[in-house]
Amino acid sequence: MNDKKERMGGGKIMARLIVLLGSLAYIMVVAVINGSLGFVSAMGVTLMGAVGIAKALGESIALSYGWIIGLAVGFGVLRGLLRYIEQYCNHYIAFRLLAVLRDKIFGALRVLCPAKLESKQKGAIIAMITSDIETLEVFYAHTISPICIAVVVSSAVFVFVGCVSSWYLALVALCGYLAIGIVLPLISSKLMRSGGVGYRAEFSSFNAYFLDSIKGVRDIVLNNAEDVRLAEVDRRSDVLLDYTKKLKRKISTAAGLTEIFVSVFVILTLTVGVILVSTDRLSVGMMIVGVVAVFGSFGPVIAISALPGNLTQTFASGDRVLKLLAEKPAVEPVENGEPLDFEKVETENLSFGYDKDAKVLKDVCMHAEKGEIVGIVGASGCGKSTLLKLLLRFWEKDSGSIEYNGVDIDRIDSAALTDNVTMVSQSTYLFDQSIADNLRIAKADATLDEMRSACRKASVDEFIMSLPDGYDTQVGALGDDLSAGEKQRIGLARAFLHDGKLILLDEPTSNVDSINEGIILKALKDGREGKSIILVSHRESTMAIADRIYRVESGVLEEVK
Ligand SMILES: Nc1ncnc2c1ncn2[C@@H]1O[C@H](COP(=O)(O)OP(=O)(O)O)[C@@H](O)[C@H]1O
Ligand SMILES: [Mg+2]
Repeated sequence: MNDKKERMGGGKIMARLIVLLGSLAYIMVVAVINGSLGFVSAMGVTLMGAVGIAKALGESIALSYGWIIGLAVGFGVLRGLLRYIEQYCNHYIAFRLLAVLRDKIFGALRVLCPAKLESKQKGAIIAMITSDIETLEVFYAHTISPICIAVVVSSAVFVFVGCVSSWYLALVALCGYLAIGIVLPLISSKLMRSGGVGYRAEFSSFNAYFLDSIKGVRDIVLNNAEDVRLAEVDRRSDVLLDYTKKLKRKISTAAGLTEIFVSVFVILTLTVGVILVSTDRLSVGMMIVGVVAVFGSFGPVIAISALPGNLTQTFASGDRVLKLLAEKPAVEPVENGEPLDFEKVETENLSFGYDKDAKVLKDVCMHAEKGEIVGIVGASGCGKSTLLKLLLRFWEKDSGSIEYNGVDIDRIDSAALTDNVTMVSQSTYLFDQSIADNLRIAKADATLDEMRSACRKASVDEFIMSLPDGYDTQVGALGDDLSAGEKQRIGLARAFLHDGKLILLDEPTSNVDSINEGIILKALKDGREGKSIILVSHRESTMAIADRIYRVESGVLEEVK
């Protein structure tokens, strides 16, 4: 994802977020209708009071006092009921949509993984799944419908006051709605724009840094770097506080401005009303009805002017989430491609670079046949892992060819490719579940017999059986008791269980001691039956079990004779 990309405008973000609503939009309409009627009912309560006073002043009003009181009470009760339905609808939409969005983000990550996520800060993704999504809840539950309600209620009051009382009063009210509901939010959003975006960016960067520090706490302690780290956390926390203060100050300024605007328009309405009465263009009773209706009608537009404080943050969150959803993966998966039953893989003049001008691999020609162990050795950073990633199509090659059984890799079905080719990297991640669960990620329906057979091949069955709960032992309960070697052997067992015909091993023994390296290499040699293995290492000793060896030097590959 390119963070430097220009941020979308607020209107565009809002439109796209609304499009995400889909069929939930109908419920949104119900919410808006109920919210508008709710506001009108609330106004009805005070309006009945005004009507009562107008009647007492001799205005000809068809309603009896009993009816006026009854209606006031009725409006009050109705207000509560309508408000309840409105809130229920809004939150129903918000939470349903959050579930849908989380699902979409996860789907997007699955497609982007692994190539695009290599360089991404994990903390930023966690921030996106947690706080960005939470922020969007505000948008769906508390933003769209208040705006619609303000439009509906303001128009209704404008027409009502115009028809019943005076169009002059209605016009003053209209100016008030436009000033408070549109001009003021525009001013304050301009005021807060940079603040809100800056705050969110700082917040997510702080989270990422903090998470990173916790993950690396052991290295921090071992290097005696606590003080430096702590000072940096302090500094960043101060910066964040500073952003928060600035933002809050702007929010308060905007809130103050709103109050002033409302007061000004209330006084203006009253003044116009008094002038109309004194020039005999309006009766006192109808002036009171009109003025009270206008006074009570600013609620919905005030709600809008309170939005920008949240809205800038919401847009920043919406922007990030929408961008992630729109992000193109480094390679498009091949659907309905050719099937694959691995016999051999061959590359011809294969070249690749992460940047167009810096080639990591140059004209690589290599092949691996069924049943072979092919070794690839070379110094760190020479491009060995990159070659394996290309064989799995994590990235698209720049030029040359990669062919499985003579079929170009870009034509092979992605699912078929991952079925046939498995990779074990230099450290195996174990989830905080049972060992059996950890093995089943390679084959969801594996039986205990299948798992044990794979573990025997990886020389780890005996170890697992020695644990008190055997295959049901929780990895979390073991804490750090599992050695790197044991973890790697479980990783290898996963590869055997997955039963791909080609296993790519990226420095499988670089983190383990020589005893474990011996065990793993022997397990590979013994368990290789019917499988091809491409074994990558920067260590010559690892190559002992290879049938053929290639050597890589700065991206150029040569077979060792
Ligand atoms: N995702 C990436 N984006 C940009 N450059 C990368 C990426 N991964 C690796 N590189 C660079 O490509 C070169 C080869 O890396 P790699 O294949 O991991 O080497 P090896 O596995 O042989 O140690 C290195 O210079 C490395 O910095
Ligand atoms: Mg590597």
